[in-house]
Amino acid sequence: MDKQKQIVMSGIRPTGYLHLGNYFGALRNYVKMQEVYPCFFMVADLHSLTTHPDTSFLKENVHRVLAEHIACGLNPDLVALYCQSHVPETAELYLYLNMLAYKGELEKTVTFKDKARLHSENVNAGLLTYPVLQTADIILHRASLVPVGKDQEQHLEMARNFVQRFNHRYGQVFPEPQAFNFGNELVKVPSLDGTGKMSKSENNLATLYLADCDDTIRKKVMKAKTDAGPTAPNTPRPDYIENLFLLMQLVSDSATIQLFEEAYRSCTIRYGDMKKQLAEDMIRFMAPIRDKASQLQKDKSYLEKIMKQGAEKAGASAAATMEIVRNAMGLNYY
Ligand code: TRP
Repeated sequence: MDKQKQIVMSGIRPTGYLHLGNYFGALRNYVKMQEVYPCFFMVADLHSLTTHPDTSFLKENVHRVLAEHIACGLNPDLVALYCQSHVPETAELYLYLNMLAYKGELEKTVTFKDKARLHSENVNAGLLTYPVLQTADIILHRASLVPVGKDQEQHLEMARNFVQRFNHRYGQVFPEPQAFNFGNELVKVPSLDGTGKMSKSENNLATLYLADCDDTIRKKVMKAKTDAGPTAPNTPRPDYIENLFLLMQLVSDSATIQLFEEAYRSCTIRYGDMKKQLAEDMIRFMAPIRDKASQLQKDKSYLEKIMKQGAEKAGASAAATMEIVRNAMGLNYY
């Protein structure tokens, strides 16, 4: 298919605060893609119900995540930015796809097994069929390019299987979705304690959230694990130190980075100074996004306008696809 005609689709669940990993792993790429492809970006509120049945914070979270998408540079006039539950065709397509998804393959899904362990009191059918709903989100717009992290690879593989089964049974309707990161390697944003990545729900002190205030950013960065420093020239950097350099590469200028690399090589590095510098550069980078998001979040009439506009665009695309789907499936009786 013509590259220009391929469609981009992705979603983020409103289950917590967006963090620097979401920014560098997803949102920053979305912003580049919006200039090149037709894009659908969605707040996956229905998916959040599979693990978060308590909806008391849902509205606030949906508003914040939407505001953060825009604050990061997404242009709602250029893309369809919408809430999953505002597009009811999603549920219809999910139902059809459920007939093509086998219990055995769903039970084998790594994310299902992980979440079932974590929420053993609530292993519901929605959790089991999570990848089916995700497939519906994507193919509802006949999208084939899906910017997601490594943890979603298996879901996309399942999406391709469901698409193949649908197309085989009912005719060539859907393209096969694939992970997409717009050329460059995905940036992993390490957590501040040297263990794994930044995360929405775990590890609060080691994760920098887009909503963190300056003092919180400072406090978290200053708490990052370090040691007494290298004692011999050209010692390899331990993971937790390497992470500080990685973070610096995301937000500091090259002269600053060079300065600390040189200090490390010559064993004169003072990690306190490095963290102070990193904290200030981080604040310079993050504060405008935070302030913009918080301003947008207060403007309820603006958010409402954005959501309606997004639902209209996504709804039009969904309606067109479902017309084709019902015809292909023989669900057209007059
Ligand atoms: N499962 C995705 C995640 O946890 C969120 C998601 C829901 C999604 N629907 C999607 C991602 C459609 C890409 C496309 O990150």
